[in-house]
Amino acid sequence: MAPPLSYALFALALSPAVMADPLLKSRATASLSSWLATETSYALEAILNNIGSSGAWAQSASPGIVVASPSTSDPDYYYTWTRDSALTLKVLIDLFKNGNSSLQGVIEEYIDAQAYLQTVSNPSGTLSTGGLGEPKFNVDKTAFTGSWGRPQRDGPALRATALISFGEWLIDNGYSTYASDIVWPIVRNDLSYVAQYWNETGYDLWEEVDGSSFFTVAVQHRALVEGANFASALGTSCDYCTSQAPEILCYLQSFWTGSYILANFQSSRSGKDVNTILGSIHTFDPEAACDDTTFQPCSPRALANHKVVVDAFRDLYTINNNAAEGVAVAVGRYPEDTYYNGNPWFLCTLAAAEQLYDALYQWNNIGSITITDVSLDFFQDLYSDAAVGTYSSSSSEYSAIVDAVKTYADGFVSIVENYALTNGSLSEQYSKTDGTQESARDLTWSYAALLTANMRRNSIVPAAWGETAASSVPATCVSTSATGIYSTATDTAWPSTLTAATTTATATTTTTTTTSKTTTSTGTSTISTTSSSSSCTTPTSVAVTFKLTATTYYGENIKMSGSIPQLGDWDTDDAVALSAANYTSTDPLWFVTINLPAGESFEYKYIRIESDGTIEWESDPNRSYTVPAACGETAAVESDTWR
Ligand SMILES: *[C@@H]1O[C@H](CO)[C@@H](O)[C@H](O)[C@H]1NC(C)=O
Ligand SMILES: *[C@@H]1O[C@H](CO)[C@@H](O)[C@H](O)[C@H]1NC(C)=O
Ligand SMILES: *[C@@H]1O[C@H](CO)[C@@H](O)[C@H](O)[C@H]1NC(C)=O
Ligand SMILES: *[C@@H]1O[C@H](CO)[C@@H](O)[C@H](O)[C@H]1NC(C)=O
Ligand SMILES: *[C@@H]1O[C@H](CO)[C@@H](O)[C@H](O)[C@H]1NC(C)=O
Repeated sequence: MAPPLSYALFALALSPAVMADPLLKSRATASLSSWLATETSYALEAILNNIGSSGAWAQSASPGIVVASPSTSDPDYYYTWTRDSALTLKVLIDLFKNGNSSLQGVIEEYIDAQAYLQTVSNPSGTLSTGGLGEPKFNVDKTAFTGSWGRPQRDGPALRATALISFGEWLIDNGYSTYASDIVWPIVRNDLSYVAQYWNETGYDLWEEVDGSSFFTVAVQHRALVEGANFASALGTSCDYCTSQAPEILCYLQSFWTGSYILANFQSSRSGKDVNTILGSIHTFDPEAACDDTTFQPCSPRALANHKVVVDAFRDLYTINNNAAEGVAVAVGRYPEDTYYNGNPWFLCTLAAAEQLYDALYQWNNIGSITITDVSLDFFQDLYSDAAVGTYSSSSSEYSAIVDAVKTYADGFVSIVENYALTNGSLSEQYSKTDGTQESARDLTWSYAALLTANMRRNSIVPAAWGETAASSVPATCVSTSATGIYSTATDTAWPSTLTAATTTATATTTTTTTTSKTTTSTGTSTISTTSSSSSCTTPTSVAVTFKLTATTYYGENIKMSGSIPQLGDWDTDDAVALSAANYTSTDPLWFVTINLPAGESFEYKYIRIESDGTIEWESDPNRSYTVPAACGETAAVESDTWR
């Protein structure tokens, strides 16, 4: 499992000066991709280890119960939190939707366990009197009755989001009755809770501030928007979702300070907090424009905030060595943090990367980057010539900015690589002075964060949640609330297998009205367009067939060498052999099919291996290829001719 020592040493040696060399940069990218290939499988294994009752580290937990960490002392995290569990299951559900059908069992056990937990009376109340806001339970599904920061109102929203994501898959694949009978009753309770309590205070995601928290309000807005869409897909409705969502969005605007996003009201801190970056990445909609109102990852406000939050840690931790602005550093929760002496956290450092990968996806989707007065400082750190304006994807400025943002984002992940244990293990924190792991071991959320950051790095994105029809803010905000429906969810009779229907037969096409805002230096204009979107998912990997026309003599062979681990990282010893099985004198075809991460970009060349073993390279320049990352596109063909 451990990466080769040379990779670890190389990554440690990275510095901005080194990264400026293109060859070293491509080797750094290849090294990081190679570590991620190993680390992602460790992360999935570790998550499953932390889920009862078959998980190796959670055997005393009930089936489907996600423990926050196996650590039972200093600190004792051997409990199940609604928030951490929902964020983790959202990742497993996305992996399931992208083709890992072996995760069906654990997803169903989680859903069944949540149906039960909703009914457990606890210090926050009962099902219909506020009990859904209880932050954590014992692993045997009994109430935790000790003193705690309660209620925490993000949990029901995040759980609704996870379950809706699975419910949408059920609908798309011919299992609507299960979506209606099992999933919807649980989701409806959570939506009812959000609609009723969103305008009341509670504890933030770090369980410290009793007030109003950006992360909580942002995920509540998303949950009610997609809750209303899910209800209509099931032939029902959610009036209390529809009435409250715009009001929540209205309130969300008040967290913008003018230069960054305030994490909490009713707190004496600076308000610079990864809470806000997490809010942005967990409300990322791949179809959205760079909307400031929903703080989309590519929005000017969210980018300005990224800079302010990350910069708050540069001179705070010894291991950051006061690195220059625009260079990745270790990131913690908030600068005033003193918990375990206040260290960087893996999930916070990964969130800083993930926001940037999301933004790269959005710019690519939109076809341009717009720099405004608000985001200018962020861009200038990475590209000193940056100026206010819109740069189309065909411009050299666009390419330079995209390259710089990708390098910056990868830098955060490389820091996580540096401080991960050699077996891949990630705790909650790593020491601000020497990077050794601190606090709870094998934190489930650290692994969930690693998996989402890696997916976004490969342009694998979650389904849209309806942001494009839910980004306009009412003219005046009102204090309000709505009453929904609470009822015990009792049906847990799942079919023994769930089979994905074929993509073409089930992709449902919906027509949505998209409102995109184009911000220019002179102001903001709003354009409404109508576009079609499909609800099928982007695959994790694509089977790419490379076909090469090359006349060869008997005994001469063809291989491919390239900049990614699957092509040997330019090491010809690890090049991939092509087949001559279909070769004829009139059609001298060599070919190979390789499974590659969707969205991955790389360079390559073909090589001839002579019968005596000597190697002949193709002429320059290097070839480049980007694996498609598109809805339902699981295979692709690239045809080349030897040069
Ligand atoms: C699918 O999930 C299983 C766990 O259920 C895991 O062992 C396996 O590696 C996953 N497959 C892929 C391709 O990630
Ligand atoms: C409730 O909403 C109003 C209107 O947006 C806002 O002024 C107030 O601060 C909110 N209070 C809480 C606790 O959410
Ligand atoms: C990796 O090492 C850490 C620290 O020794 C340990 O807690 C963890 O269980 C190990 N992981 C596995 C899968 O053995
Ligand atoms: C090679 O030939 C087989 C048999 O005709 C065919 O099925 C296959 O598609 C061919 N492969 C390529 C890459 O052309
Ligand atoms: C092709 O890529 C290799 C490895 O990154 C590099 O050394 C070489 O200069 C590249 N060739 C050209 C023509 O850019």
